[in-house]
Amino acid sequence: MYVLACLSYIVAAVFWSGAATDDVLSKHRFPKDFLFGVASSAYQVEGGRNVNGNGENIWDYFTKTKPEKFHNSSNGDVACDSINKFREDVKLVKNLGVDFYRFSVSWSRVLPEGYSNNINKDGLRYYNDLINELIANGIEPMITMYHYDLPLPLHQIGGWTNPYLAYYFEDYARILFSYFGDRVKHWITFNGGCAGYGEDGFAPFLNQPGIANYICNQVLVLAHAKAYHLYDREFRMLQKGKVGVTLEGNWYEPGSFAVEDIEAAERAREFKLGVYANPIYHPEGNFPKAVRERVDNISRQEGYLRSRLPTFSAEEVEYVQGTYDFLGLNCYTTFLVKDAEEDVSEKTSSDKDIRIKMYQDKQWHKAKSSWLRVYPDGMRKMLKWVKDKYDDPEIIITENGYSDNGELVDIERIKYYQKYLSAILEAIHEDEVNVRGYTAWSLMDNFEWIMGYSEKFGLYHVNFSDPNRKRTAKKSVDWYKKVIRERRVVEIKEVSSRLKGDL
Ligand SMILES: *[C@@H]1O[C@H](CO)[C@@H](O)[C@H](O)[C@H]1NC(C)=O
Ligand SMILES: *[C@@H]1O[C@H](CO)[C@@H](O)[C@H](O)[C@H]1NC(C)=O
Ligand SMILES: *[C@@H]1O[C@H](CO)[C@@H](O)[C@H](O)[C@H]1NC(C)=O
Repeated sequence: MYVLACLSYIVAAVFWSGAATDDVLSKHRFPKDFLFGVASSAYQVEGGRNVNGNGENIWDYFTKTKPEKFHNSSNGDVACDSINKFREDVKLVKNLGVDFYRFSVSWSRVLPEGYSNNINKDGLRYYNDLINELIANGIEPMITMYHYDLPLPLHQIGGWTNPYLAYYFEDYARILFSYFGDRVKHWITFNGGCAGYGEDGFAPFLNQPGIANYICNQVLVLAHAKAYHLYDREFRMLQKGKVGVTLEGNWYEPGSFAVEDIEAAERAREFKLGVYANPIYHPEGNFPKAVRERVDNISRQEGYLRSRLPTFSAEEVEYVQGTYDFLGLNCYTTFLVKDAEEDVSEKTSSDKDIRIKMYQDKQWHKAKSSWLRVYPDGMRKMLKWVKDKYDDPEIIITENGYSDNGELVDIERIKYYQKYLSAILEAIHEDEVNVRGYTAWSLMDNFEWIMGYSEKFGLYHVNFSDPNRKRTAKKSVDWYKKVIRERRVVEIKEVSSRLKGDL
């Protein structure tokens, strides 16, 4: 997982007096056809980065050239060694009793240079074996086509600021649909957005806020649309799958009842989620109007001869709008938002464009990750907001989870899941949000981007000192299994006497 949270904005919550959600679990049940899953991503778990035929991606490159950016200078060269242990991984997935496994394909493992002329047979074989092993065990494969790991040669031509990336992504999509689409029925084109383009906390560390992130934003959206149309034109009739995108769906809550703070929170939602969701999911398409207006205005004030926010032509608006079968949301936490002073002298940044102060309530229970505090009501509110704003799309929660130090008795993780799953049940039954599936992040402890191996989200523990990368079930595995079996949020004490003993 990854959340773009600028720590300097997290200040004490003086204005917030609302009570956090109580601990009452939802009494509702998950619908019969509701799908449960668990997730991982290629660079975070696979390892096998130096095997023959595998190309270099931006994480290979930056963990070597800028090791100081990563906790303990760590990298994903071995990670969980899933490249060798995938059959064991499938056993772990099967043990959970989930319906699907969401994993990502490493672009540079399939196309070493990123381009379609050179296909790595070993890469194809790996994903074919993984897909077949899942299906043989009754688990549906759900593929993320791109989870932050751009092939290095594509980065060298500008990465997602180069409009031609949309074409190269379409070629890559064609190869995935062609080789795997007979068995894969859920495709997620992209995970999240343009991390690393507007800040320094993520590869490719471009750090050109207010410029690079907006260009990347447009190219990603166009690339997604190209892949969707390709599927429609050439694959859908035979393969009968679904194509969607996964967006960062954290909630932005007003820090007070003041009108300007309520507006500031809405502005945050539009700038964080709306810039990706609006072009694809909103009936009118295009960037959100409020974003368009603010960035145009501020660009003018700053002396730019054109807006820093790229424009979609009328043809592109139409081409992109409606290119979805479902919406994937990664939701972990909530941020409080207050209106900030306009400061014309500040230098260009998207924070200046948004003009907010973002923080969290110190009373909300904190996970290991600095940005992750527990506020499940945010999940319910986000789901309702998405339903109302984007014409009631089919939603799959593609990530939700809790970080700690890797404890085997992970009671706080279970409590987190209880509350967030309760919030989802309320959204389904009380707010009639069309949530069709839920994905726990993550299957196992893994390489957590710049945080290296210091924050653990896994249901299974991985011993990273052990060359064999031994996996061990945490308590949350027992709990999640029972939830899936009984299709309701179960109490901790219902799980097992073993667990009670540990409490
Ligand atoms: C943009 O500028 C126009 C003209 O100065 C102004 O009327 C409008 O309120 C501004 N919009 C925003 C969102 O700042
Ligand atoms: C980071 O390095 C220190 C010193 O070698 C070590 O004690 C610690 O366990 C490492 N942390 C992680 C998360 O790998
Ligand atoms: C992890 O593996 C190392 C090396 O095999 C071993 O010494 C250590 O005891 C293991 N740790 C745990 C918690 O099992």
